[in-house]
Amino acid sequence: MSIKLKTPDEIEKMRIAGKLAAEVLEIVEPYVKPGISTGELDQICYEHIVNVQKAIPANIGYCGYKHTSCISINDVVCHGIPSFEKKIKDGDILNIDVTVIKDGYHGDTSRMYIAGKPTIAGEKLCQVTQDSLYEAIKIIKPGIRLKEIGKTIQKYVEKFGFSSVREYCGHGIGNVYHDEPQVLHYDADDGGVILKPGMTFTIEPMVNTGDWRTRTMKDGWTVKTKDHGLSAQYEHTILVTDNGVEVLTLRKDENFPRIIEH
Ligand code: CO
Repeated sequence: MSIKLKTPDEIEKMRIAGKLAAEVLEIVEPYVKPGISTGELDQICYEHIVNVQKAIPANIGYCGYKHTSCISINDVVCHGIPSFEKKIKDGDILNIDVTVIKDGYHGDTSRMYIAGKPTIAGEKLCQVTQDSLYEAIKIIKPGIRLKEIGKTIQKYVEKFGFSSVREYCGHGIGNVYHDEPQVLHYDADDGGVILKPGMTFTIEPMVNTGDWRTRTMKDGWTVKTKDHGLSAQYEHTILVTDNGVEVLTLRKDENFPRIIEH
């Protein structure tokens, strides 16, 4: 496995792409309300990326996908397809996942939104999922094994009786959208990968209230929990620095440092 180490010039481009991706999740936030369709939310993301950011939505044309974002509601784990028929309901939890390409480099990020009045279960799951991502980011520094990330996430979410999805993973990212390494969100073989400065990859835990197993729908994209329990996901693109980590897709609504030094 060859994992690319980014040059300072590439890192600067990754910072810009990451910032733009984060900005999309910020500007769409006020629109996430009961009654809006996921198709409309997708269109808002598209117009911002193309018209305001003068950037490229990476998902359009990726393996035949036609939309800017994936929008995954309630028991949808990931890859929910935006549709003008699919309206958001009060208390829904939904993930919006976007990847922006600027100057040839990718920024990939997602977060949960709660429409209207949160349910206790939905709010708890979203909080624990975001915290599991933060717990994993906090341990990142050169010299540690890649598998420590998944181990940290699994251990954290299982404390709350939740499970970490195994069939989908984070990934190396740069001028390639999905690159080496695969970043698993549970304790699993990492092929001996040790983190090095200049690595950029995503961490994107999908956490279920019930069992971790998933099922793909007939549309070939939409992935749901097998037991119909709720699922949540948060994703950041991160850079391994000389002494810690930099979160390239940090948003203004987050109470978390952009840079951690160990
Ligand atoms: Co990703």
